[in-house]
Amino acid sequence: MAVPFLDLKAQYLQIKDEVKPEIEDVLETCYYVLGPKVKNFEEKFAALCGVKHCVALSSGTAAVHGMIWATDLPAGSGLITPPNTFTATAEGIVLAGHVPVFVDADPVTWNLSPEKTEEFLAGCSSTGKPVDPKTGAVIKGIVGVDLYGQPADYKALQKIADKYGLFLYEDAAQSHDGSRFGQMTGSFGDVASFSFYPGKNMGAYGEGGAITTDNDEIAARMRTLRDHGSQEKYFYNFIGHNYRMSAFQGAVLGVKTKYIHQWNSNRIAAAARYNSLLKDLPVQLPVTVHDTRHVFHLYAIHTPQRNELREYLAGMKIGAGLHYPEPLHTQKAYEYLGYRKGDFPVCEKNAYENMTLPMFPELTEEQQIEVASGMKDFFKRG
Ligand SMILES: Cc1ncc(COP(=O)(O)O)c(C=O)c1O
Repeated sequence: MAVPFLDLKAQYLQIKDEVKPEIEDVLETCYYVLGPKVKNFEEKFAALCGVKHCVALSSGTAAVHGMIWATDLPAGSGLITPPNTFTATAEGIVLAGHVPVFVDADPVTWNLSPEKTEEFLAGCSSTGKPVDPKTGAVIKGIVGVDLYGQPADYKALQKIADKYGLFLYEDAAQSHDGSRFGQMTGSFGDVASFSFYPGKNMGAYGEGGAITTDNDEIAARMRTLRDHGSQEKYFYNFIGHNYRMSAFQGAVLGVKTKYIHQWNSNRIAAAARYNSLLKDLPVQLPVTVHDTRHVFHLYAIHTPQRNELREYLAGMKIGAGLHYPEPLHTQKAYEYLGYRKGDFPVCEKNAYENMTLPMFPELTEEQQIEVASGMKDFFKRG
């Protein structure tokens, strides 16, 4: 039996009777950009995250860029982030005019390590303010990433941010409706960013993103930045961008906000089933840390044999992904920062040994048994 990595059609079929009239409404009212559908979505999503503001944007990349831009740091500030993330995290830092400062991840959660962050900051703060020894950038912030759907340790990161007077940002592109310490993703730190790319836990039918925050000033600045720095038509307070959300995506996401919790609960149940099906195999399984709702955007296992295993599964028509196969610090685009292979061993292990298994809310037990039996066969053959 073929098992796809992702099945977007299965979810569409569940909600199509609700989505179609919403899309029809956009067509009939001709309110194609922002407008009532986007506003309705913003209100619902802010409530889901437990924050005052959600500002809907055109993509998750716009959201990472926007959340950093909206905090108005001095040009060339350093922002700490892990290199085992999608390029958009570091790209957003660069697009906002700043410098990514990489720190290694935790070997259990694969999220930014608070211990290594603290150690790094302690080592580069002799003058009283932390300065990145590689680039000379004064460090002004930390961008945590909720990799695979597990929120980073924001309690520890907030303590560090407070100690050094840094902004704390959350890249929550993979963790809609996740939580840690009883607090929802999107509500940690100063401001968070989300992606609604179709394959995300809460995916639009095209590109989409948002920032969420309790900070009135950041939210107001983001609303202006997404619309060319304008609050009043034809008058511009500063240089902005066109990062407005399409009304079609607002309409779809407004419907999906109702279902995301249940869909994520299905993912969590599927992850538990994988854990039990795969427990005797020589692979590192994902760990959900205490007091955390890990929403399993991706179910990532680790093995040094992942390329051979992935090929074997592909032969059985089982889809498996790599998230991500090369860390950012060894990518050509970030060469100018001066890092080398070997600098971040945990992120490198994550990159070279991870493989992500089929995961979506409608994944069946039968499909998971098929994936597990393919993996068992592979290891039995040696
Ligand atoms: C961690 C992370 N940040 C940012 C993004 C960027 O989102 P988008 O693809 O919507 O621009 C993604 C999307 O893959 C992501 O996984």
